[in-house]
This record gives sequence, C-alpha cells and structure tokens, in this order.
Amino acid sequence: MTDPNRSILLTISRDEVPIGEVRAFTVDSLSIVISHLSNKVWGAVENLCSHDNGALGDGKLRRGDIVCPRHGASFDCITGKVKSLPAVKSVAFFEASEDDTGQVHISRSSGASNGNQ
Ligand code: FES
Repeated sequence: MTDPNRSILLTISRDEVPIGEVRAFTVDSLSIVISHLSNKVWGAVENLCSHDNGALGDGKLRRGDIVCPRHGASFDCITGKVKSLPAVKSVAFFEASEDDTGQVHISRSSGASNGNQ
C-alpha cells in the first residue's frame, strides 16, 4: 500500500528492470539505481559509490547486494549499507514499492541516510 504522505520521486514500469538486474534513472539532478530482486521486491539507492564515485548502476546484483564495477565494493541494494571494502560508508537509499498495476514508485525514505553509516 502506498503511503499518501510520502513524496514520490520517480515511477517506472516493472518491465523496465528485469528480475536480477539493476538500472540507473535520473530525476532532476538525482541519479538512482533501482534493483529488482524478485517478484515485487525492489531496492533503490543513490547511483554513486561512496568509495570513489563509481556508477553503481553499471554494477551487478549479487545475493541482494550491488557490486560496484570499479573496485568491487558492495552495498545492500535496499538499505544502502556498505557490505564490503574498499568502500567504508553506506550510500543513501530510497523506498521502492510496486503497486497492483505493475508501477514501481520510488520515494524518499524517512530513514534515508546521507551516505554515513
Ligand atoms: S568506486 Fe566503487 S569500489 Fe571504488
């Protein structure tokens, strides 16, 4: 169920990101990586690796983590928490949910970090 009080930043169709893949989308000046983990399970984090600004949207999903294509750091694709070196700081995350029509809504999370753990 969509919370009417939250601010939706971006809406995509579920078909835009196949299960098991990630895609980067830009809204205003914000680049967001959307991950499709499994049926109706989505994640969204900022598209900027905290190690050295790699584009996480060019990375791959591995067991629920996004692996940075530059030096291999990984981040939880839902919470943005750093999971492996060389990154040591988490990345900001967003709420991602699919409605009954197959639209995926990305919104700011009340718990979104600014990249710090
Ligand atoms: S820029 Fe992502 S691991 Fe180095």
